[in-house]
Amino acid sequence: MKPAKATELATASTPEVLVPARLVEAELAAVEARLSRLLDSNESIIAEICHYLVDAGGKRLRPTFILLVYRACGGSDQNVDFAIDAAIALELIHSATLLHDDIIDRGLLRRGKPSAFAQYGFGPSLIAGDYLFCRAFELCSRFEERLIRTAAQACIQLTEGEVMESRYRHNAAATLKDYISVIDRKTASLFYAGGKVASDLAGAPARTIDAMAKLGTAMGLAFQMVDDLLDILGPEEKIGKPVGSDLRAGIPSLPVVLGVERSAELRKLLQNGTQMEGAALERALEMLRAPEIVADARRLAAEQIALARGIVDDLPASPYRDGLATLIDDQTSREV
Ligand code: FPP
Ligand code: MG
Repeated sequence: MKPAKATELATASTPEVLVPARLVEAELAAVEARLSRLLDSNESIIAEICHYLVDAGGKRLRPTFILLVYRACGGSDQNVDFAIDAAIALELIHSATLLHDDIIDRGLLRRGKPSAFAQYGFGPSLIAGDYLFCRAFELCSRFEERLIRTAAQACIQLTEGEVMESRYRHNAAATLKDYISVIDRKTASLFYAGGKVASDLAGAPARTIDAMAKLGTAMGLAFQMVDDLLDILGPEEKIGKPVGSDLRAGIPSLPVVLGVERSAELRKLLQNGTQMEGAALERALEMLRAPEIVADARRLAAEQIALARGIVDDLPASPYRDGLATLIDDQTSREV
């Protein structure tokens, strides 16, 4: 497919702005159509829950990333169907983890509305997550073994990351190093797999596949760091869930691990072991919003963004390479 020219990407209201998703518009439309069909089930409650979550307007960041990597690595129209299925598989896995994560976190709001857990309860949302996960691997069955293994390894990392995070909950001894190991598994692993699979499907050489996997890791780490910052900065309308959700649940997010290094009062509040509420939550939020903590968190995210940009700059020039660069930069502007 011929790439759209930069001028065709501009919208009437935002001239000259490159919108990465527009570069792979047709592929993303195919993702949406096929994804929606895969959510259907003989059991109406499963289909209802899956549609409830997936149709709630996620950013489709993972599919956009995969499709841009595929095209930026020279992926042809002939094989694009595989890249579309890889994008769907990763979005299905991501959606499964959100259903399970809201059960674990007792998350009541997701994408600006009651979470599936709040709406349908523990059992139905657990099963719906399992269903999405199985659908993902049904789709993966058309891939070669090494690609299926990459997807499976990402899932193994996701589960281990979630367990590691639970171990560090309400634990004021969790360090920045611990935090990075958790988010490398619980968030970056899926982007790593996406970069690796997409470039492999595009027929890229081993060196490029390795670079795209590293790009995925940097992108995933930056994404989670910015997400953690947004959790304390809000506002609720922007983040689609209550401000301070991580803190309330005792999750060692980026501002939290940076904060406990600096403040004995914060360590005491976090170590309390119970859900942080009311005045304690407000006080902890106030401390975490200290300019030096916010600046430190931004710096760490910016480091990953710079790393990702460096990798993208090494790709051959193309509109897709520019789209990837913009997708990465958009991570920074999410928090202003
Ligand atoms: C959201 O993080 C959660 C994850 C990115 C990973 C969750 C992983 C599992 C529940 C393991 C299950 C794995 C499979 C393969 C089904 P967050 O709590 O920081 O984000 P949030 O604020 O959006 O809830
Ligand atoms: Mg959560």
